[in-house]
Amino acid sequence: MTSPKKKLIAGNWKMNGSLAANEALVQALRAGVGQSGCDVAVCVPSPYLAQVQSLVAGSPIALGAQDVSAHAQGAYTGEQSAAMLKDFGVRYAIVGHSERRQYHGESDDAVAAKAGAALGAGITPIVCVGETLAEREAGHTAEVVRRQLAAVIHANGHCITEIVVAYEPVWAIGTGKTATPEEAQAVHAVLRAQLHHAAGDGAARIRILYGGSMNAANAASLLAQPDVDGGLIGGASLKAPDFLQIIAAAA
Ligand code: PGA
Repeated sequence: MTSPKKKLIAGNWKMNGSLAANEALVQALRAGVGQSGCDVAVCVPSPYLAQVQSLVAGSPIALGAQDVSAHAQGAYTGEQSAAMLKDFGVRYAIVGHSERRQYHGESDDAVAAKAGAALGAGITPIVCVGETLAEREAGHTAEVVRRQLAAVIHANGHCITEIVVAYEPVWAIGTGKTATPEEAQAVHAVLRAQLHHAAGDGAARIRILYGGSMNAANAASLLAQPDVDGGLIGGASLKAPDFLQIIAAAA
């Protein structure tokens, strides 16, 4: 199935940055991004949302968060609600990143609730799914990603066409090991079929990003796959020339 929509290249800065480093990075991105043919976002640590909101103002770069609370308000120390993120111009929120599933015990249902909270505030959730190395080696890749996505579909009904999905094989994140374009496409096709089952023709416009050691050298071949609609980029999004090359490969 081909996808006619614009690709999305989203940087996931993770827990990196400083006032000075963010300013230098965003200025370099603004200078190089031009009127690119793809959508571009940077998902930044929450203390820097206000800073990066003003740094990207008037540019084609959208602002993203790395997580969102499932709750609207109240006694949830350390969390940020979708409405708070919206106050700072946030367009996208990553939910269910494997680092949050692994280090913070986020369940499929918790991730689904977070996606719902984002959607309710008009923020596009970037829902991450992906298998561990052990799951891949046991032949469980399709089953794992389907289970993770099914929770989000089940909890969000007809809003499902408003999400972005990111396939991020856990073994490829930050390791320098990338899924081959064919391996990525095979899983993206599984996800597209599942979305099609849930949303009919609307599934064609849902963007499915690949993430996991995407870089300037491998981006073009991954992005050439019919069901790869963009990338979620960690390490390479912290280096402006690399991130700009990935954006150029998606345009
Ligand atoms: P990586 O991270 O590009 O550094 O592998 C991707 C991610 O975790 O989103």
